[in-house]
Amino acid sequence: MRAVVYTRYGPPDVLGLADVDVPTPGDHEVLVKVRAVSLNASDWEGLRGKPLYSRIGGLRRPRRHILGSDIAGQVETVGRQVKGFRPGEDVFADNLASLGGFAEYVCVSETALARIPSGMTYEEAAALPQAAAIALQGIRIRGQVRPGHRVLINGAGGGSGTYAVQLAKLDGAEVTGVDNTEKLAFMRKVGADHVIDYTREDFTRNGLTYDLILDLAAHRSVFAYKRSLAPGGRFLYVGGSVSTLFGVLLVGPLVGRAARKKVRLLAVRLGVRHLAPMIELCQSGKIATIIDRRYRLSEVPEALRYLGEGHAKGKVVVVIDEPGAA
Ligand SMILES: NC(=O)c1ccc[n+]([C@@H]2O[C@H](COP(=O)([O-])OP(=O)(O)OC[C@H]3O[C@@H](n4cnc5c(N)ncnc54)[C@H](OP(=O)(O)O)[C@@H]3O)[C@@H](O)[C@H]2O)c1
Repeated sequence: MRAVVYTRYGPPDVLGLADVDVPTPGDHEVLVKVRAVSLNASDWEGLRGKPLYSRIGGLRRPRRHILGSDIAGQVETVGRQVKGFRPGEDVFADNLASLGGFAEYVCVSETALARIPSGMTYEEAAALPQAAAIALQGIRIRGQVRPGHRVLINGAGGGSGTYAVQLAKLDGAEVTGVDNTEKLAFMRKVGADHVIDYTREDFTRNGLTYDLILDLAAHRSVFAYKRSLAPGGRFLYVGGSVSTLFGVLLVGPLVGRAARKKVRLLAVRLGVRHLAPMIELCQSGKIATIIDRRYRLSEVPEALRYLGEGHAKGKVVVVIDEPGAA
């Protein structure tokens, strides 16, 4: 099969299209013919090996040579113990645990897999898993957004951010989106009431406070976040620098207690089986999946460069073309 492989951390140039063996599913795994795979910041981080947490499992060199976690496709074959799926079924998964999505076939644990909801395309299904899980848990489950809350989403123009902005609006919040200059109009279009260009303004220094700050690109000190929280407000670290992560883990529980402020890590519970509320909202048209660009398998390096250089507005999806088309 064709796959996009890499054997060392680096820029998109370290990726190459190669012919590799089709993987063999284990007893509890399903072999999926990949039709679409969406890109996440975690793919970019896994390619670059930065931040350091992206090197878990391969400190000097990547242990897994094919990136790509959020896949949608068709069941090709199933392992001996798999009871829940049959060849030909349309399925999707967050395969962050074993990756391998930038390929024509991928093995996925049965437990990570679900059927594609009716009416959803492969591309839409591939766009959802990680980004929608972050939005659902960041806004509703851990964020506990209520009508009238002031919510700031840092990194609001990217994959998770666009779902998070829509969900927070739906739940009655006044939403501020923060991202780069290129994405300001886009964030407004998605539903943000206010936008901030992070290249020109530091939202932790403008004197405003929020009931929830959901940070997809956190790199400040916990004290800066505390300053930007209203009494009773919470800050959730989703992704960003390792130093901020340590600050959140070590100092976060201690700061702001008097004013009931919480500075915490959002350890996202990944898996498409937890996505039911988001899937319903997508099916009813209340939340839209915004796909900025589509690429072919051979174009994965360009797709990752586009995402990593900060141009992607919403999701970027790789559509796996038929053999011979690349
Ligand atoms: N906590 C968990 O359990 C968990 C699980 C899975 C994933 N994650 C993390 O969650 C994050 C999800 O990101 P995603 O997939 O939504 O990524 P994405 O599509 O790349 O979006 C991230 C957005 O943040 C923006 N950004 C970068 N630096 C910024 C800054 N300093 N201030 C404001 N915005 C900034 C990016 O714009 P630019 O283009 O300007 O860079 C981009 O628009 C990743 O960091 C990933 O590692 C966490």
